[in-house]
Amino acid sequence: MCGIIGYTGNKDVTGMLLDTLEMLEYRGYDSAGIALCDTDGKIRVVKCAGRVKGLRNLLEDSHIKGNSGMGHTRWATHGGVTDQNAHPHRYGHITLVHNGIIENYKELNDKYQLQDMLCSETDTEVVAGVINHFYNGDPIDAIRRSVMKLKGTFALVIMFDDFPDTIFAIRNVSPIVVSSSEKGNILASDVAAVCQFSKDYFVLPELHTIMMNRESVKLYDLSGEIVEPEILTADWELGQNGKGGFPFYMEKEIMEQPEVIQKTIEGRILDGLPCFTEEEVTDDVLRDCNRICVVACGTAMHAGLVGQVLAHSVLGIHMDVELASEFMYADPVIDDQTLVIAISQSGETIDTLEALKYAKRAGAITLSIINVRGASIARESDYVIYTYAGPEVAVASTKAYTTQLAVLYLLTARMAFVRGILCEDDVKTFILELQQTPWAIRQVIQKRDQIHKMARRVLDARDTFMIGRGLDYSILLEGSLKLKEISYIHSEAYASGELKHGTIALITDKTPVVAMVTQKRLKDKEMSNIREVCARGAKVMLFTRESFEIGGIDEWSEVFELPDLEDLFMVLPASVALQLFAYYVSADKGFDVDKPRNLAKVVTVE
Ligand code: M6R
Repeated sequence: MCGIIGYTGNKDVTGMLLDTLEMLEYRGYDSAGIALCDTDGKIRVVKCAGRVKGLRNLLEDSHIKGNSGMGHTRWATHGGVTDQNAHPHRYGHITLVHNGIIENYKELNDKYQLQDMLCSETDTEVVAGVINHFYNGDPIDAIRRSVMKLKGTFALVIMFDDFPDTIFAIRNVSPIVVSSSEKGNILASDVAAVCQFSKDYFVLPELHTIMMNRESVKLYDLSGEIVEPEILTADWELGQNGKGGFPFYMEKEIMEQPEVIQKTIEGRILDGLPCFTEEEVTDDVLRDCNRICVVACGTAMHAGLVGQVLAHSVLGIHMDVELASEFMYADPVIDDQTLVIAISQSGETIDTLEALKYAKRAGAITLSIINVRGASIARESDYVIYTYAGPEVAVASTKAYTTQLAVLYLLTARMAFVRGILCEDDVKTFILELQQTPWAIRQVIQKRDQIHKMARRVLDARDTFMIGRGLDYSILLEGSLKLKEISYIHSEAYASGELKHGTIALITDKTPVVAMVTQKRLKDKEMSNIREVCARGAKVMLFTRESFEIGGIDEWSEVFELPDLEDLFMVLPASVALQLFAYYVSADKGFDVDKPRNLAKVVTVE
């Protein structure tokens, strides 16, 4: 959570910081602020509660100018959403911004007697106080001594009054990536933000200090030795970040799905068979494990649930899907025969990262499915398979989810092949069907006006239910999360057979119900459950497939027909239909679809 940036170079830093903060705003948007070295060599801070737009307005009338500075966009943890709690914070000679949580800030406050000079309720200001306490003219030494005292996670960007045009940074767990070009040296929370000038970047290693000014970037380890960074290359196009003419990133990202799914699968199919040779995921790894466990959060966890259905129905292998935040507290049964798969768009979700580390300590083989190159979870894993979704900016995950699914289908097919569960021809047929999914998604997108019409029926609802069984239920869990997070309508996905055991009491003629019916073997039972809610007055919006005879169209408020694929693959077009449904509800209600309240794109606090 929180987006941070530091820049030194030949550009006017104010505009540069504001533009980059806007790019990073998906990480938190409770407040925004910048600090920069003004032309007189003094550090100036401007900050306010609210969005970067507000900060931009505030800065319009100011005359501060410079070529070095840092910025922050906040997702509040310690202290309310106020101007005082906005970053940067100043204490003595120190100005800093922070992403993460300092768990022992109260003890530090007491130990170093900082309270008299504190102006905010944040843990961050205490860190500034600690660094100020240890500062005796040597910034690297002060940073090193201070971070030894911190408990928690942090990415800190620091400016010292005595070195106003130099940017220092250090991190533990929370990300910082750095890029250098003739236009300047930049560091930030994510790759998309630093790769504005160059595709080459490096990940700041944990507990290493970076010192950068206009001329140079130097990296030090904790003992003060200079370290050579490992340069990586971003593999998405610079400038791929705009909204492309759509009102919101979410809409653009929904539309991109056919292409990015294709990109994710095509390079991994050789002679009609899935292969992961480039990723060096050996067949032994896929053949020898006797259990699989997915750890993930939110949408990524929902992708895992679909993977579970594939593992059970295609492979007949036991797969657990665990909420990463619960994983290590549930005493999971793991050994060196367990393959633990971490799924994450950002690759920085701390719950998932900690679950993965726990699994590694327990001896598991670890594989991650990640979108952002070089992210922490990728670096911690034995094997990594990247999705090719490109930058996903909207907080609500769409194309990251469907590309995660695409990788799970490929993995299932490879496992079925190497374990001799499916013969070569059947694996090829499975892959051919997967290759049809971009086409099916395009069909859904073409008919999006129908989904928009359905969405209008729930605009005034307070609660909705989404019902289905089996794979349909897994799809709805994700569809329901989408609706909740961006439209603020309470929505509950429910296994439709379970309704009659209590929840049906909540169904009235004021409760819109979304029903998903895509699985041949479940269709009749699902239809019976739908009729049960209709009998209680519910208005049902039905998503089903073209080939299903459902009869009595008048019974339903609206019906959307999905293009036909084999049952297991219906997830992809159906999920895109539900993404569009949530999107239109949110947009029609006039919400900021890309930045729903209280949320952030990257969740780096536990
Ligand atoms: O970056 P990750 O995939 O690890 O993020 C996990 C969740 O925070 C994320 O999927 C979240 O649930 C989505 N933004 C919901 O749309």
